[in-house]
Amino acid sequence: MTATRARPRVEGPLKLTGAARYAADHRPDGVLDAVLAGAPVAAGRLRRVDPAAALILPGVTAVLTAADLPAFPELPPPSAVRVMPFSDDRIRYEGQPVAIVLAESVEAAEAGRAAVVVDCEPGTPVLIGHGHRELVMSEDRGDVDAALASAVSNGGIRIEQTYLQAPRHHHTMETSGTVARWDGGRLTLWDAVQASSTVIPVVSAALGVDAADVHVVARHTGGGFGAKGYIWPHEILAAAAARIAGRPVSLHLRRPDQFSSVGYQPWMEQTIRLAATAEGVLLGLEHSVVNNTALADTHVEPATEASKSLYAVPALRLRQLVERVSLNVPTPMRAPVEGPGLWALESAMNELAAAAGLDPLDVRLANFAEVSPADGRPWSANGLREAYEEGARRYGWRSRHQRPRRDGPWVIGHGLATCTMGSFRFPGASRVRLHRDGAVVEANVHDIGTGVQTVLTQIAADELGISPDQVEMRWGDTDLPTTGPTYGSSTTAGTGSAVAAAARDVSKQLAELGQGGRDPLEALDRAGIDELVGEGTFDLPGGAGFNADGQGTPYAMRTWGVIFTEVGVDPDFGLLRLRRAVGVYSAGRIVNPVTARAQMTGGIIWGWGKATMEESDQEPVSGRWLAKNLSNVAVPVNADIPADIDVSFTDEYDEAASLIGARGIGELGATGVDAAVAEAVHDAVGVRVRDLPILPWKVLAG
Ligand code: MOS
Repeated sequence: MTATRARPRVEGPLKLTGAARYAADHRPDGVLDAVLAGAPVAAGRLRRVDPAAALILPGVTAVLTAADLPAFPELPPPSAVRVMPFSDDRIRYEGQPVAIVLAESVEAAEAGRAAVVVDCEPGTPVLIGHGHRELVMSEDRGDVDAALASAVSNGGIRIEQTYLQAPRHHHTMETSGTVARWDGGRLTLWDAVQASSTVIPVVSAALGVDAADVHVVARHTGGGFGAKGYIWPHEILAAAAARIAGRPVSLHLRRPDQFSSVGYQPWMEQTIRLAATAEGVLLGLEHSVVNNTALADTHVEPATEASKSLYAVPALRLRQLVERVSLNVPTPMRAPVEGPGLWALESAMNELAAAAGLDPLDVRLANFAEVSPADGRPWSANGLREAYEEGARRYGWRSRHQRPRRDGPWVIGHGLATCTMGSFRFPGASRVRLHRDGAVVEANVHDIGTGVQTVLTQIAADELGISPDQVEMRWGDTDLPTTGPTYGSSTTAGTGSAVAAAARDVSKQLAELGQGGRDPLEALDRAGIDELVGEGTFDLPGGAGFNADGQGTPYAMRTWGVIFTEVGVDPDFGLLRLRRAVGVYSAGRIVNPVTARAQMTGGIIWGWGKATMEESDQEPVSGRWLAKNLSNVAVPVNADIPADIDVSFTDEYDEAASLIGARGIGELGATGVDAAVAEAVHDAVGVRVRDLPILPWKVLAG
């Protein structure tokens, strides 16, 4: 049985000493640097690319255009795009790649890019908010119209509000990038990704090579947050360019390319209609979601999932729509799905409490779902009620208004919201090799900064009954056993279970050798064996490749929590300060409280950034991203973050969710924070902001 134990990060020394090598740190012999040249307009037609001025610059070796590149087929998921750039002469967004400059150095390639003449016939860009929407998903349960009507006639409450959020970019410290080298027909990619095994089918389909001939190495990934989850065109273009050049190619996105050549969280408009009794008990819920997507590619942000599964609501109407605009395609961003969904739903629940004159906590308790509202299955485990109670106790929620309401210029407000995410599960495999001096864990996970190596090492050590110091981890290479991706808050539960199974396989083999029950290293020695290899898998019912809600099992699975925030509002300037936060989470067993706390604290800070700072705008005339650098990007810094962030977990072991009792944590902490902050602002100064981020002018305008 795996213990809960704090352990320092095993990859920490590699990062602190600079020994951790990221994708672009790989410089195979003869490597060329590649820089993308993009369309200068957001709409129109490409007339001509003139490389002449670039080709005479020192160090520039080639400028590749559509004429040089192979014809790409339509690509399957998890390619982020269906239609590769270079496929036709239509310009669909500013920055759309139209040429690849190859050079002997990054500097020469940059100079070449600046000299390439891109001639476009400009068109009229399509802007966010034009109002033409396509319905992509709908779901109905019960009669929402009847619920809304009866709420009015029976003295109940109706809430109808629209909640907006701005687009946001992931801004990983390491921009996305790929180094490609061909050895005959075999391709090696050093790639900045969150799911390297899924690169292979996309690249092999795009380039017409055998999947067995593609090898991806991705050990350290400098932040992902979803930006490196799907497969993006630059990964394919790096490989295509290397094949044409006959030399390895390093295509590392420049910071501005990061805005247009990978994804972002879309602009979203969500409308919620609630019908409830005077006691705040929900009778009906309508949740309609619109997100922007690209002209040729479709990303749906399924924010209605939150409304489907959180509260016990008899009548439900869910709609998902998209609006196509002249921007690149969006993608999931920590926390996708329920993250945006709870901004709307939990804001509306807070408005319901205010309208009913009830404590927002009591409204949550009144609508607690004893079983899954989606299909009536029992929960695999659900500590949400305990989380509400424990969080309220730690925060002092019930006595909040007896404390001082002012501190110097700051008017103090309090808010809360429920947190929830689907429990994403992906199948995968792992291997544990036991040697006389220790064990080696092999699993193709990635290090995106979560501490996954530490946790997997710890799981293997505990299963084998040896010290974690005697366990080494090999990760980040598609030659290792294939695991689920390093996203979706899924890795500890899924790959952790595969590692535990592999370690148990080793123990079983030792027992079969008559060496059970003793120190495994000593046992190996006694048996005169140099190495025992254990294999383990984590499988889903029916051999499914993914599920989010315990599909195919007798149990519904989700993760839950509650976030309480204390916010100071300066009523003269509209400034906001996060003074205190208390988060309590129900997420299955916590393997390592240090890395787990770091995940949740990071999520809460991420949520504060979403609530009060982050916004990427589409420029309203040219249709391009207004800013394409970091100089005006506001994200929380240390000075914005109070020391008093109190994170805890309910004590759980969820044996239905995974072999190790874990469900998933990473993104849960980022949910609910925006709605709790908006509620705290309202509590402080009576202004209800329904448009994220909550900037000072919006507080003052209220
Ligand atoms: Mo996260 S959007 O699952 O990297």
